[in-house]
Amino acid sequence: MTMENQQSLYMRALRCPVCGADMTHDASHGAGMLLCGGPRTHTFDMARSGYVHLAPRHSGGGDAKAAVRSRTSFLSAGYYSIAADALCSLVSTYVPSGLIVDAGCGEGYYTNRLAACGEGRYEICGFDLSRDAVDAAAKAARREGVGACFGVASLFELPLASASVDAIVNIFAPCAEKEFCRVLKPGGVLILLGAGERHLLGLKRAIYDETYENAMRADLPTEMQLCEQTTVRGEIEVVGNEQIGNLFSMTPYYWRTSPEDKKKLEHLQCLHTEIEFDCRVYRKI
Ligand SMILES: C[S@@+](CC[C@H](N)C(=O)[O-])C[C@H]1O[C@@H](n2cnc3c(N)ncnc32)[C@H](O)[C@@H]1O
Ligand SMILES: [Zn+2]
Repeated sequence: MTMENQQSLYMRALRCPVCGADMTHDASHGAGMLLCGGPRTHTFDMARSGYVHLAPRHSGGGDAKAAVRSRTSFLSAGYYSIAADALCSLVSTYVPSGLIVDAGCGEGYYTNRLAACGEGRYEICGFDLSRDAVDAAAKAARREGVGACFGVASLFELPLASASVDAIVNIFAPCAEKEFCRVLKPGGVLILLGAGERHLLGLKRAIYDETYENAMRADLPTEMQLCEQTTVRGEIEVVGNEQIGNLFSMTPYYWRTSPEDKKKLEHLQCLHTEIEFDCRVYRKI
């Protein structure tokens, strides 16, 4: 999918974040721009990497550059490839065609994997509040030659028409059920991936004296129909202190661990840990 294709499902679904009007793509200036068809013609420049900034000014910033760099380095080493494989398989079962949105796409690791395994059967776009993450995602899509589009936007205020989307994937990101239900078509699908009970237990063992399994997330959908729940499990050997640090900085423990406990990772060169992904498929009723 390319932004240039005016008939793409993505372009047809996009709405001006200021006035809600339809959007068109104008390729005649610089890297191109999107303009709305409202009475005031709001314009949104495309970045050179190909993404567009569609978040209202009051939105927060999402993940910072350092977090984006760490996650890119860890994910591109393939440690979570079983999660990407599970996601591709769920999408091929539940979403034969149409428009898929990756809500909270980060640097597009899963978005671009889905674009590659979809082989043109569906269109995919990713939104995230972090401009650094979206810029990295758009650059990766170009590098990998996959047709995914990216925008800076909050997943609680997606710049998309109501009932315009066939499926949403939401991976290790906040679940905005109400907004997802607004943009999904009737019968549309939400695929949620998050941490399973034993996810990263080995990392916790390396840091804490006492370890507990992860509690179930508190923001699971309540108004949608649960179609399937699967747990994908594996074990990984994270090699090198820098890569262990990258993994640690991707987790919530990074923010809540004492300096003394953080020190335990300082000289660790190899970390063996369980990884466990809770995968759920919901349908909008
Ligand atoms: C843990 S990362 C996961 C990124 C990606 N889905 C992945 O698994 O590689 C969470 C992402 O959610 C984004 N995020 C957090 N709150 C958001 C919001 N309100 N709207 C859009 N993105 C948000 C962050 O910027 C970050 O990129
Ligand atoms: Zn407008």
